[in-house]
Amino acid sequence: MRMRKIGNTDMEASVVALGTWAIGGGPWWGESDDQQSIAAIHAALDAGVNLIDTAPVYGWGRSEKVVGKAIKGRRDKVILATKCGLWWHDERGPLFFELEGYAVKRYLRPDTIKKEVEDSLQRLGTDYIDLYQTHWQSPEPENDPIAETMECLLQLKRQGKIRAIGASNVDVSQMKQYQAIGTLDAIQPRYSMLDRAIEKEMIRHCIEHQISTLVYSPLEQGLLTGTIGMDRTFSRGEYRNNIPWFQPLNRRKVLDMLAGWQTLTEKYHCSLAQLVIAWTIAQPGITFALCGARKPEHSRHNAVGGTLIIEADDLRKMRGDVEALGAPL
Ligand SMILES: NC(=O)c1ccc[n+]([C@@H]2O[C@H](COP(=O)([O-])OP(=O)(O)OC[C@H]3O[C@@H](n4cnc5c(N)ncnc54)[C@H](OP(=O)(O)O)[C@@H]3O)[C@@H](O)[C@H]2O)c1
Repeated sequence: MRMRKIGNTDMEASVVALGTWAIGGGPWWGESDDQQSIAAIHAALDAGVNLIDTAPVYGWGRSEKVVGKAIKGRRDKVILATKCGLWWHDERGPLFFELEGYAVKRYLRPDTIKKEVEDSLQRLGTDYIDLYQTHWQSPEPENDPIAETMECLLQLKRQGKIRAIGASNVDVSQMKQYQAIGTLDAIQPRYSMLDRAIEKEMIRHCIEHQISTLVYSPLEQGLLTGTIGMDRTFSRGEYRNNIPWFQPLNRRKVLDMLAGWQTLTEKYHCSLAQLVIAWTIAQPGITFALCGARKPEHSRHNAVGGTLIIEADDLRKMRGDVEALGAPL
């Protein structure tokens, strides 16, 4: 497993990180099995993955609790990342979405962050979080001042409750507001070979300022593994129904492109998932690929992507193929 530093910190994390959104289960992903999820986390750790990402909102605390159980006795081997800012405990903050009877708000003020961090520490069974990230930024017109959020995060850092600061779903202007107050170590944006929006501006900013990128949904929620065929359906409410690439005409195009990479998977003795992960972490400014898994075979399998090196000509060919797909219909 290749390792890279998180921002300017001394923390060395695996280029393939384990995402635990699906471990929270619920309507977005369909049911998850906690014992299997724990086995998936153990399999990732055994395969050299040390960076694990979770969030309170994943299963209303369930994902954090499962991660906490799984890392018991191995805490010092793990770089633990979680988040704050999606709040469903009272009326504070503007509504973001409603799910399972909870009204989730985007709220990043110190009053709730201080409570959120304590709740996460308790669920995770630890007394420090390695990378603490704001999950979704406050929308206009409410706009919680980023300066206030950052002051609070810096205070948590001085108290030793968190070791590094990250921000998810930010734009460059928001990154600059965090940076005006203190060090922003990492961002967590959406990025896959089918969704390269951050290449326009954000990546350059991250490279210039030594901000790590921990990119989410690099496998397009399993589509880029080639194992989700044309006949696979998802129940109503499952998140994958919202992703345009999963619609039949788009899915056909992606599957045809993946089928054309057989010579590459043979050349590198790897699967499509591993090839896609290796391509992702080879892109300039992409530091970590945050791959979701809740089955041990998936975590073991994805970890191998973090050991593969793809030759420059092949990286270019793959980019040419994804660019030729264009935007989803
Ligand atoms: N900051 C944010 O706003 C945000 C948003 C989204 C995600 N995230 C983070 O990023 C992580 C990863 O993103 P993601 O879970 O959306 O997407 P992903 O990593 O692109 O896809 C994960 C899903 O793909 C399937 N999969 C994974 N490995 C596979 C393999 N080797 N073969 C076949 N199928 C495989 C699994 O589906 P099944 O389990 O159904 O088989 C898995 O749950 C999340 O877990 C979360 O930690 C953050």
